[in-house]
Amino acid sequence: MSDYSEKFEKMRKAGKLAAQTLDMLTENIKEGISTANIDKLGYEFIRDNGGHSAPLYYRGFKKSLCTSLNHVVCHGVPSDDRILEEGDALNVDVTAILDDHYGDTSRMFCIGKTSVKLNNLINITHESLMRAIRILKPGVRLGDIGYEIQSYVEKEGFSVVRDFCGHGIGTKFHEAPNILHYGNKNTGMELYPGMTFTIEPMINAGKFGTKTLNDGWTAVTKDKSLSAQFEHTVGITENGYEIFTESAKGYVKPPYL
Ligand code: MF3
Ligand code: CO
Ligand code: CO
Repeated sequence: MSDYSEKFEKMRKAGKLAAQTLDMLTENIKEGISTANIDKLGYEFIRDNGGHSAPLYYRGFKKSLCTSLNHVVCHGVPSDDRILEEGDALNVDVTAILDDHYGDTSRMFCIGKTSVKLNNLINITHESLMRAIRILKPGVRLGDIGYEIQSYVEKEGFSVVRDFCGHGIGTKFHEAPNILHYGNKNTGMELYPGMTFTIEPMINAGKFGTKTLNDGWTAVTKDKSLSAQFEHTVGITENGYEIFTESAKGYVKPPYL
């Protein structure tokens, strides 16, 4: 038994709870629901399953998950006033703490009909995450992860957000190293067995620039273009990787049902 097997067992449980929360939300997110309502459902589900929501009171954040709509890149704050409507594209980002370990994952949701462009943005964002995950094994370097995402996304005509990144995760929400979603092959730290981190590319239909609104949280695209994101928490094994936050229901990307 490797010395990280106990850690991985806990990461598996925390990741599973975060993914199950998104699975539950998948069945509830529809036109007419407010983002505050989504937050409440997530809060209750995590609590009822023995965990805690990591975002709540994290650095002054006052909600239990992030709801990022349309041109919001990340860290959108759930609100009673924002009711989902036809054409909306929503990222819900859930982080659950279970037995002192963190599971962090996000998915996109579409309300009603979607444009070809939005569909394309969502598919490419998801594929960029999966391409990065598929190369993971000991000895692969952090720059290889960034390169995998950036080269694919830019070839498709979209841009990679620079202002936010993935992160080490374990018994802390955010820890070293930063996982950049852009970069050069054969650069940066080498992955090693037992390492646990997130990959969470934020991909814009327009330019990569972002700005943060006056609430201190909501990050939006500067050019108001659409932005999409998916996130998984992963672990490096002896010869590959494990995804801790996969859906047990096969809810991978929209359309889900
Ligand atoms: N879940 C986000 C991430 O992927 C962080 C959210 S921090 C919050 O790292 F405070 F905004 F919730
Ligand atoms: Co994260
Ligand atoms: Co997250």
